[in-house]
Amino acid sequence: MHRAVISASSLYTAPHTISNAELVAAYNSYVGEFNASNAARIVAGELAALEESSVDFIEKASGITRRYVMDKAGVLDPQRMRPKFAPRANAQLSLQAEMAVAAGGEALAAAGKSAGDVDAVICAASNMQRPYPAMAIEIQRALGIRQGHGFDMNVACSSATFALELAVNAVRCDSARSVLVVNPEICSAHLAWQDRDCHFIFGDVCTAVVVEKRATATSANAWEVLGSKLATSFSNNIRNNAGFLSRCEDRDPADRDQLFVQEGRKVFKEVCPMAAEHITHHLASLGLAPTQVRRFWLHQANLAMNQLIGRRLLGRDATADEAPVILDEFANTASAGSIIAFHRHSTDLAAGDLGVICSFGAGYSIGSLVVRKY
Ligand code: COA
Repeated sequence: MHRAVISASSLYTAPHTISNAELVAAYNSYVGEFNASNAARIVAGELAALEESSVDFIEKASGITRRYVMDKAGVLDPQRMRPKFAPRANAQLSLQAEMAVAAGGEALAAAGKSAGDVDAVICAASNMQRPYPAMAIEIQRALGIRQGHGFDMNVACSSATFALELAVNAVRCDSARSVLVVNPEICSAHLAWQDRDCHFIFGDVCTAVVVEKRATATSANAWEVLGSKLATSFSNNIRNNAGFLSRCEDRDPADRDQLFVQEGRKVFKEVCPMAAEHITHHLASLGLAPTQVRRFWLHQANLAMNQLIGRRLLGRDATADEAPVILDEFANTASAGSIIAFHRHSTDLAAGDLGVICSFGAGYSIGSLVVRKY
């Protein structure tokens, strides 16, 4: 068995920013138009008037202040309220692949690796632009990786950590010298921007991570993976029913369940204890305690969730240094969240420092990696 390390990470940031004020102004203008054009039915009691959103609520309930998106105009247009992307010909690089190639190329450069060193590409995200051919194979070709293989996988917000476990095992067992994991998340395209309960939640981004043998790692920010642990437990509390059968069920793509739907309060209540317990057990299986961990790079969905998990782990509030938050700037970026936190907040730590990367989300799914700076 080889020892596996995360030898580099990188971050592709989507080109546009939407502040909460911009988002709420667009949403409230949609509400005004909806209520005005349905005034008679609302007065007759046939339809409920929509209520306005508020910046204060969003910041208090989630900790999010802004988000990056691949298209801003379409999202903020009250007549449209979804991103607008130009269709691309098959000969052109796909949108998700474009993000992943940018992030993947940077991660390889940071690891000091070339295309010839990579034996597998895993494209792991909560939504895939198409069922096939795999996005990963298109990314593999675009990066000039001629050997090895690529495949896609989706475990919603845990896609990245689940992919990292596969990558680590491939390197440990010598089925790959190094593996590139990419997480192109275009969450803006599965978000119901007309839904006041969740219109503020998501943003777009792509992260990439290189996993390789410890013996070949040369980067200054290499983290040995001491262990990984995955867990799932079925829940309908975060769900998206869009799929290839939707057409055969004569579903309207505008049906609310064809996009992200959640029972936010239930998710909050159920997932926080699961995540804290998962991390504690994972650390214990390696003979470690949460208090020995220098930094937790947690999934970034909601500030209060991360604070609660931090308290459960440490028996006190975790400091921003112990459990850094990036969701104020990026919002929830599904599987990429914990990797952004790792990418932004790992180079300052010293050799020997311990860290935990942990995701949690739809499934439910939880994935953790315990790492030590090499
Ligand atoms: N603006 C103003 N008020 C709003 C609002 C908005 N955009 N959205 C909801 N409200 C109101 C509600 O109508 C409700 O009003 P009421 O008390 O008069 O009934 C009140 O605010 C509370 O709404 P609620 O939905 O219960 O808020 P919350 O405190 O549970 O926060 C979430 C909502 C989504 C931020 C929170 O539940 C959460 O983050 N859950 C976990 C989500 C998660 O991690 N999901 C994973 C996705 S991968």
